[in-house]
Amino acid sequence: MVTWNNLNTLASFQTLSETERVDLVSAMTGENGAERVKNYSIPMAAGLAYNYAAKQVDEKVLDALVKLAEEAQLGEKFAALYNGEVINTGEKRLVLHHMTRGQLGEAVEADGVDKRAFYVEQQERIAEFANKVHNGEITNAAGEKFTTVVQIGIGGSDLGPRAMYLALENWAKKNDTFKMEAKFISNVDPDDAAAVLNSIDVAHSIFVLVSKSGTTLETLTNESFVKDALKNAGLDASKHMIAVTSETSPLAKSDDYLAAFFMDYIGGRYSSTSAVGGAVLSLAFGPEVFAAFLKGAAEEDKLSLNQDVLQNPAMLDALIGVYERNVLGYPSTAILPYSQALSRFPAHLQQLDMESNGKSVNRFGEPVDYPTGPVIFGEPGTNGQHSFYQLLHQGTDIVPLQFIGFKNSQIGTDVVIQDSTSQQKLCANVAAQIVAFACGKADENKNKNFEGGRPSSIIIGEALTPEALGALLAHFENKVMFQGFVWNVNSFDQEGVQLGKVLAKRVLAHETDGALKVFSDLLNI
Ligand code: F6P
Repeated sequence: MVTWNNLNTLASFQTLSETERVDLVSAMTGENGAERVKNYSIPMAAGLAYNYAAKQVDEKVLDALVKLAEEAQLGEKFAALYNGEVINTGEKRLVLHHMTRGQLGEAVEADGVDKRAFYVEQQERIAEFANKVHNGEITNAAGEKFTTVVQIGIGGSDLGPRAMYLALENWAKKNDTFKMEAKFISNVDPDDAAAVLNSIDVAHSIFVLVSKSGTTLETLTNESFVKDALKNAGLDASKHMIAVTSETSPLAKSDDYLAAFFMDYIGGRYSSTSAVGGAVLSLAFGPEVFAAFLKGAAEEDKLSLNQDVLQNPAMLDALIGVYERNVLGYPSTAILPYSQALSRFPAHLQQLDMESNGKSVNRFGEPVDYPTGPVIFGEPGTNGQHSFYQLLHQGTDIVPLQFIGFKNSQIGTDVVIQDSTSQQKLCANVAAQIVAFACGKADENKNKNFEGGRPSSIIIGEALTPEALGALLAHFENKVMFQGFVWNVNSFDQEGVQLGKVLAKRVLAHETDGALKVFSDLLNI
């Protein structure tokens, strides 16, 4: 029997709060540090490993976190979710994104169909469609092959798929699986659509309109923008467009599209492994690459089932994050991938984490009196080092860090300068940063003094492959889910984005007064 309780009512949280704090500087200095780095590591899927040696934890804190996981029933709540309970209570919906990549528990039926079979069918339909586009069975009106795919969507219908595309673009080119270039139009700023349209050959482009709801203003506006461009080029828009949406959306049964693929019961920010990511990634790289990405995610999901918290990387990552937020009082978390291919991964995690857990009420709509989701931000290293790391090293706030690093580059082309390759320099930097943050360095000159004690974790892999990317994605999805369980919030709705949408509509309808009217006038609307 699962019970949903606020974090501060749990006895184990009280114990955790009273557990002696860890002095990270001494824990990470000398032999102690060397031992921790070897021991505080958990295998993940696709050859990745989650290393939490530089986090502010020790055996006592870990023991308290294990007890918190038990009392908060994290394993049971995950099981309830994948076995088809209505976990998204705000919207009264099932939460089934794990099923796009595997079956973790019982069969789940909704709308009269087995949902795992439904997602497999969508994946197969996408694979068939993509193969036909690649082999020229589906072409433009002139019988010529499509060369570019353009995704039109925003939020979860853009950020995850775009980040995944960028993550695998060079890998696919190197491994001869690259089929078509992908572009993305998301912002309602007309300069976004115009710039993309100016950069492509519309006659040879296929557009993927992605909207779960089928009602998002930005996406429908950009669809019209694209349709105009196609019409102006003398082309039939319906021969250049496919849709990804839910079966109940207004787009589902329209004749405006060559084909439609579906993704019901999946929140936008959790939809990269559904048709939302599947269509564009299968068209860009081939269905086999998308299948490998799903395989990595499915393997990582299985690790998230482990009842042994210390062998469950997503659950432990989540619990350490809660400890940092609710006991140590740290307000934000930085995502720092030492991989240029992951340049948009922090942007995806911003939505994933902040739209899921940026809540002030619990799942029953009652205010909570403890902090919930942290502010998430990030940039790839080493670029970030030359930007905001100053604050991370010496600023007045302590910001927990999540590094990601790979031993090998994706393309393999490299250069030796001053006795080391670029890849070695990249990896040397991430190792150096972890120790610099944790251990610091004393200096009489206070301006040059590093106090240390700044916690970080790192996920280390061999190389960023489709499987590794799938594992990475699932790790963070599951981490955010477990944190939502601990904070007793509904991580699967997003009411906080509605008010701005309503007011923007009023501005466009010229139904304004007060400050809204003056701001509207200032912006010439
Ligand atoms: O406005 C927020 C949001 O609902 C996100 O949760 C979602 O990812 C995005 O808008 C796009 O929604 P849709 O896929 O329905 O167009």
